[in-house]
Amino acid sequence: SLIPVILAGGKGERFWPLSRRQRPKQFLSLDGSGRSLLQATADRLLEMAGGWDKLWVITSALIAEGVREQLPELPEENLLVEPEGRDTAPAVAWATLEVAKREGEEAVIGFFPADHWIGDQTAYCATLKAAARVAAEEEAIVTLGIKPAYASTGYGYIEQGEKKGDYGGLPVYRVSRFTEKPDLTTAEQFIETGKFSWNSGMFIFRASVVLGELAQYAPHILNPLREQGKGAYGSLEKKSIDYALMEKTQLAYVLPGDFGWDDLGDWNAIERLLKGEAANVELGDHVGRDTQGAIIYASDEQETIVTIGVEDLVIVRDRNVTLVAHKSRTQEIKQVLQQLKDHP
Ligand code: GDD
Ligand code: MG
Repeated sequence: SLIPVILAGGKGERFWPLSRRQRPKQFLSLDGSGRSLLQATADRLLEMAGGWDKLWVITSALIAEGVREQLPELPEENLLVEPEGRDTAPAVAWATLEVAKREGEEAVIGFFPADHWIGDQTAYCATLKAAARVAAEEEAIVTLGIKPAYASTGYGYIEQGEKKGDYGGLPVYRVSRFTEKPDLTTAEQFIETGKFSWNSGMFIFRASVVLGELAQYAPHILNPLREQGKGAYGSLEKKSIDYALMEKTQLAYVLPGDFGWDDLGDWNAIERLLKGEAANVELGDHVGRDTQGAIIYASDEQETIVTIGVEDLVIVRDRNVTLVAHKSRTQEIKQVLQQLKDHP
């Protein structure tokens, strides 16, 4: 069995202005299903968990109330509330400690981002079951690797090493190198070798294994959490688990994930999900003349967005904000929000 923990404390800034401080990306329904990304993640994992009492969520205080509203079935004691977000290394460390207190150090735990799209639930569950088996039987931190579609700089890259064996009919490999968010040239080189997959951001392991590795590679994060619990947060380094642990551990394994995966990282993901054959992706009223490749979103039904003679723009109207950006530069929304300190 596997105890899933959903990482739901991120800000999803690259979906601004639709994502806001109190309404981050994981609360949005981006695929037209009516279920938010967080709800869809919980729906998918419930089958693995075997019930709500075995599913955990870790999030930040700012949006904890929103999480409760979104997941009313989640038991309060399975909701871990961080005083403030310190990225995923502290989140993984603290949640692993808390789950281990209840379920024991040999419990198999899986961490799951709340911002993904998964195509094939059956294949996904089969992969998770195989990953849980590897984690139960080996000293392993299991990652699920995704076949890379292009040289993205927004993902971690996993280099496949020697084959470890087959688990539940699926091949499992050692990870010979893990590189988080390489620059473009490095990403291109990785892709050319054919040996790399994207890190899907899901990690499966026994609590004891990761606590041992964190004690070795990130004691400054683990020890204060062990001693003071969430009281330690104010002084913890802001670091993702990819940098803090995955680039360093020798215990990483990769299972190729062939279930249809997309990271709903920024506005371009909407296009991959919804575009089809149409000239533009239109969510809201749009009148376009000579307009191609645009992603248009208007949250108010009363509004019309009109475009003439433009290409490849993202145009988002939401309450008091209008964003107009070139599609190739939506990653930069993060930087803009830093400039706009008290951004709307
Ligand atoms: N509880 C909590 N606290 N959750 C957090 C925090 C935090 O401080 N920061 C981020 N999260 C959650 C996000 O909500 C998301 O669900 C997940 O953790 C991953 O964080 P992101 O900020 O979205 O990471 P990323 O997309 O830049 O990179 C990660 O995912 C990629 C695949 O989507 C890395 O693992 C990459 O290696 C990977 O390729
Ligand atoms: Mg992400």
